Parts: sequence; structure tokens; C-alpha cells
Amino acid sequence: VTFTLRSQLCFLVTFLCLTGVHMTSGMTVNIPDKVYKIARGDNVVIPCTFTPSATLSSISWTTDPDVKDEPEINVVGYFTTGSKTKVYNKYKGRANIEVDLQKGTANLQLQSVTSADTRDYECKVQDPDDEEGRLSDKASLVVLVAPSQPICNVVGKAEYFQNIELTCRSEEGTPTPTYKWQSYNVNNVPRPLPLKASEQNGALSLVNISMDTSGYYICTSTNEIRSAKCNVTLRVDPPSLNMASTAGIIGGVVGVAVFVGIIICCCCYCRRRREKAEEYAMRYMRNTSRTARCGCPLSFIPLCSQDS
Ligand SMILES: *[C@@H]1O[C@H](CO)[C@@H](O)[C@H](O)[C@H]1NC(C)=O
Ligand SMILES: *[C@@H]1O[C@H](CO)[C@@H](O)[C@H](O)[C@H]1NC(C)=O
Repeated sequence: VTFTLRSQLCFLVTFLCLTGVHMTSGMTVNIPDKVYKIARGDNVVIPCTFTPSATLSSISWTTDPDVKDEPEINVVGYFTTGSKTKVYNKYKGRANIEVDLQKGTANLQLQSVTSADTRDYECKVQDPDDEEGRLSDKASLVVLVAPSQPICNVVGKAEYFQNIELTCRSEEGTPTPTYKWQSYNVNNVPRPLPLKASEQNGALSLVNISMDTSGYYICTSTNEIRSAKCNVTLRVDPPSLNMASTAGIIGGVVGVAVFVGIIICCCCYCRRRREKAEEYAMRYMRNTSRTARCGCPLSFIPLCSQDS
């Protein structure tokens, strides 16, 4: 019994050892994460590890074509013969491969990434002696764009009892930014948004507004990497007392007053001249034609009929 158990155990150990040896002979290429995210303009490193092998001939990074079914695009390659690195034309000056054959790493470096670099990348190892290993792995690169400074606007009339909308939008941003409004009173103290206000896609709807609605409104546009703000100063006026019509009314009143004043002065002057002329005529028993030329259409105004 002891003998058979021992031989079985021995067989099992031998089997395990053999499979173990067999497994390590297969190449394994691995990119640790499936997705790499990076802000536009930054430099990125996508790591790739592989099982060190003396028979390895080359390592390369390729990327998906712009159009489906076209051949994939070469980014960089490393060739063990002569330890040569090749950066392909499309990536000249901004891509590199960092190879360590002993450690088994072949990291892809990309500089100043743009939105066009958002695609899948594949790390591939060529090992003519390896027939069963996994010789490549893939990962996606996602280039994020910070939200641009949003534009804040007031849509509608900022007058009592009106319904208005405060809008907020960033031209740029990947992923698409979300917007949030905050309100401050005229003393810049934070306060909750009005009860009936509703927020959607960056637009804040304010209904039946009043003086209490006046204040500062700040919109924050946020996505995964950053946020940016814009600021609206809202002044809600009573309906008819807006600046333009007030100025118009005051202007009109002043104009009429000046016109009436001129006529009154003119009349007084005429009357005085006529009276002087009459006095003169009476004194010297002679009449002049001057009195006829100067007449006052408002001679009934008492101010003008006073003697002076
Ligand atoms: C708007 O608010 C005023 C008081 O501020 C109220 O008298 C009026 O009924 C409101 N109008 C509507 C349509 O809710
Ligand atoms: C918004 O603008 C007002 C007036 O220009 C200013 O007092 C306030 O501090 C601003 N708030 C922010 C957060 O920019």
C-alpha cells in the first residue's frame, strides 16, 4: 500500500513539474490595464510586459486603422538583431519604445497626445520558437479634454414676474462636461437655488422672478479631469422702471419745460418792448411800426402782463 501511494505521489509530482515547465515555455505578453486615460497635451506611457526569451526576434506596437478593415498602423518597433528601434513615419518625433529584454518590458511612450490618439494599441512579440504562447495584448487609450471656460448667458427679460433662463456651456470637453449652478445673494453669501428653479443641460430656469432673484449665479462645468466656471450678475427690475424708458420720460419732460420757458421769456421781452414803445409814442405823440412786429401767442400768461 505504501509503495503504490508513493509511486502515485511521485507520478503526480512529475506530472505537475512537467506541466509547469511546459507552461513557462509559452510566451506571455501582458498590458496591465485595459484602458489608459490621459489629458490632452500630456505624455503617456502604456506598459507592456513579456516573458524574457532568448529566441525573441522583435517587439512592436501597432494601433487600429482609421477605417475599419484597413491594415493596422505601425507605431514603433524593436529588433533584437543590432538592438534597433524604429519609429514609423506617422509617429516620428513623438513615439518611443522602452525595451528591457532581461526584465521583459517594452513600454510605449507617446508625447503630446491629441484627441486623434484615442484608439486601441497592441503590443506584439515575435518569437519564432514559440508556437503556443500568447504573443500580444491590447489596451485602449482615451485622451481627455478639459472643459473650456463656459459661456454664461441670461435668456429673457430680467424683470419682475418674468420667467428667465440662465444658460451655461463649454465649447469643448471630453467626456462631455456636466454643469452645476450655485447662487449667491447681493452680499455674495451662498444661498439655495429658488424652490421652483430647475436645472437641465446647463440651463437654470427661474420662474416668476422678483427682486429676491437678484444676485450672483455661478456655473461650474466639470468633467473627469478638470472644471471651469463662469459668473452671471443678475439684477431684476420692476417692469416699467427699466433704464431706457426712465431716461426717455425724464428727457421728454425736460424738453417740454425748456420749450415753454423759451416762449414765456420771448413773450415777456416782446411785451416789455411794446410797452416801452407805447410809452415812448405817448410821450412824443408818435407811433412806431415796431409794436406790430413783436407779438406773443401766450400774452394771457399773467407773468408776461406785469409792468416792469
Ligand atoms: C408671481 O409672484 C407674485 C408675488 O411675487 C404673485 O403675486 C403672483 O401670483 C405670482 N404669479 C404666478 C404666475 O405665479
Ligand atoms: C462673480 O462676480 C462678482 C462681480 O464681478 C464677484 O464679486 C464675485 O466674487 C464673482 N464670483 C466668482 C466666484 O467669480
